[in-house]
Amino acid sequence: MPAARPPTVSAPADAGGEPGATTTTAPLLAVEDLHVSVEGTPILRGVDLVVRAGELHAIMGPNGSGKSTLANVLLGNPAYAVESGRVLLRGEDVTLLAPDARAKLGMFLAFQYPEEIPGVPIAQFLRQAAAARRGGELSVLEVRVKLREWLERLGMDLSFGDRHLNDGFSGGEKKRNEILQMALLEPDLAVLDETDSGLDIDGVRAVARGVEEVRRARPQLGAVLVTHYRRILDELTPDRIHVLVAGRIVDSGGPELAERLERDGYEGWQR
Ligand SMILES: Nc1ncnc2c1ncn2[C@@H]1O[C@H](COP(=O)(O)OP(=O)(O)OP(=O)(O)O)[C@@H](O)[C@H]1O
Ligand SMILES: [Mg+2]
Repeated sequence: MPAARPPTVSAPADAGGEPGATTTTAPLLAVEDLHVSVEGTPILRGVDLVVRAGELHAIMGPNGSGKSTLANVLLGNPAYAVESGRVLLRGEDVTLLAPDARAKLGMFLAFQYPEEIPGVPIAQFLRQAAAARRGGELSVLEVRVKLREWLERLGMDLSFGDRHLNDGFSGGEKKRNEILQMALLEPDLAVLDETDSGLDIDGVRAVARGVEEVRRARPQLGAVLVTHYRRILDELTPDRIHVLVAGRIVDSGGPELAERLERDGYEGWQR
């Protein structure tokens, strides 16, 4: 296990006044040579990734290549052991932080398989989560107003907030609920794992539009989207697409990469 490192403190955005000083600001997210194992098996074998504020990055890759592992590690799931490498948020080392501490710093993960939490109405869950994120109480009214606003913006039924979290939700409803959470929690960095899996065409469009709506409301939001299909990328236009194969990012590029993947599969990258 790596020893705990002191957090790297990033320079403020307006720092660097000295002549010749580097004026670059730390990116929103930097993943540095990340090695991760699960139950002793190495899964990620040296992942580097930089996401700047406002950017949308897509991660594609075959089943079992480590996409969900990366998503889980980004948000601090303790089942995944970071053997070496770092995760930096605005230059601050968050590699060893617990998920709730990351959430407070503005990181958000939509899970590939969201848990059902029967007995907790969505409105209540969102109020607690948003309060934890902001570090203060939110009034019931404030949450109701925001919830209503976002249900409308996302084209969702207004009764949705009264339903219980993921209890009997259809696949599509679960995904929309994740987008709703993202909207209300106002993160700086969102990691969306297979947000388009199991959705019909309209569902993919609705989720893509939802992501776009949230990005419009929060232009500084950086997003990492794990996906198997080009379909959602037709709607969302990522700034960068990364191909993850066998625990490494083996290629990065623009939309043409997604087209090549759809045409040829991952053969050219398998080793
Ligand atoms: N909790 C776990 N216990 C044991 N093995 C795991 C665990 N989580 C992931 N793995 C293994 O790690 C590898 C990568 O899994 P991961 O879920 O990251 O893949 P993925 O790229 O998201 O795949 P998919 O496209 O099918 O979602 C797989 O071989 C998987 O079996
Ligand atoms: Mg996965």
